[in-house]
Amino acid sequence: MNHPRQGVSIVGSGSAIVSQTLANEALSRLVETSDDWIQSRTGIRQRRLLPPETSLAELAAAAGREALANAGVDPLAVDLILLATSTPDDLFGSAGKIQHLLGAERAVAFDLTAACSGFVFALVTGAQFIRAGAYRTVLVIGADILSRWLDWSDRTTCVLFGDGAGAAVLQVSDRDNLLAFELCSDGAQGEALSLRYQGRPQILGEGAVISQGAYQPIAMKGKEVYRFAVARAPEIVEKVCFQAGVKPEELDWLALHQANQRILDAVGERLGIPPEKILSNLAQYGNTSAASIPLVLDEAVAAGKIQPGNLIALAGFGAGLSWGGAIIRWG
Ligand SMILES: CC(C)(COP(=O)(O)OP(=O)(O)OC[C@H]1O[C@@H](n2cnc3c(N)ncnc32)[C@H](O)[C@@H]1OP(=O)(O)O)[C@@H](O)C(=O)NCCC(=O)NCCS
Repeated sequence: MNHPRQGVSIVGSGSAIVSQTLANEALSRLVETSDDWIQSRTGIRQRRLLPPETSLAELAAAAGREALANAGVDPLAVDLILLATSTPDDLFGSAGKIQHLLGAERAVAFDLTAACSGFVFALVTGAQFIRAGAYRTVLVIGADILSRWLDWSDRTTCVLFGDGAGAAVLQVSDRDNLLAFELCSDGAQGEALSLRYQGRPQILGEGAVISQGAYQPIAMKGKEVYRFAVARAPEIVEKVCFQAGVKPEELDWLALHQANQRILDAVGERLGIPPEKILSNLAQYGNTSAASIPLVLDEAVAAGKIQPGNLIALAGFGAGLSWGGAIIRWG
């Protein structure tokens, strides 16, 4: 059993919406596809694509800045910045740049990679530092620019993804509002979705051979990933509900990773949760990977849907393969 020393609460959220859009119709002039095919298979109508001059760190910092402002927290009060991303500007990490851009000089900052589960993994990780009494304020950011890592001639992947960033501020609190969580990995199925380094042997001299190469565009076995998602996402929500002593029908909102409307519908059906409680914005953004859950949460907060005290189930799933769920009480 987990006995936290301190409670943790989400005290604010923010997002960075990319303004450049590409509608399905425009995409159908790039690859052999159609608005009808994309909408009926995924629910996506358009995706947001970050222009070349903007970096991941700048996009993520914008989301983080808004979350801190909404929470009324000074950047200098932040102890830890966790950046969930699979698309850093720099493989050594982009969180440090965000710390600098925010002027959060006291904070330690590091990247965490768990693909589309990244925000849930980072939220739970950040909460542990607070629960253990090590830190008081943690900024968790989910940000991805998958447009930079897609093969734009591959219609089986390029229609699905978009760019974005979302963030949440965690703080120590009297009441523990992270009611339950569960994080899972299955590396045996990792081949189903990858953004993999590929190299060729290079001989440096006598007895020394190394690999030199580059990361290859996203490769996906769509049907396998679909089957994985519709099995694991409802299962993890059921598990965290059970751990939290909450019945699925008592949830106010379900904030699932925004991969595909068909996946959201299937998960809702399996759990007996009506569509009006399932947050969805992927029609406008596509799958924004680690950004999708904080984006959809922040949108629902801004719209006045999510209210303090609401019970929310979060569930992320994706490459790794990885999946994770949490039950939070908002505010
Ligand atoms: C990708 C996905 C939408 C494909 O839907 P599907 O119903 O499984 O479609 P299929 O892969 O069986 O393809 C059906 C047909 O459409 C074609 N097709 C694939 N992509 C297409 C596109 N963008 N436009 C038009 N046709 C397309 C296929 O070539 C296939 O043609 P065929 O029957 O002549 O071989 C679906 O598998 C999915 O959502 N998977 C999960 C993806 C995901 O969420 N990944 C991220 C997880 S974090």
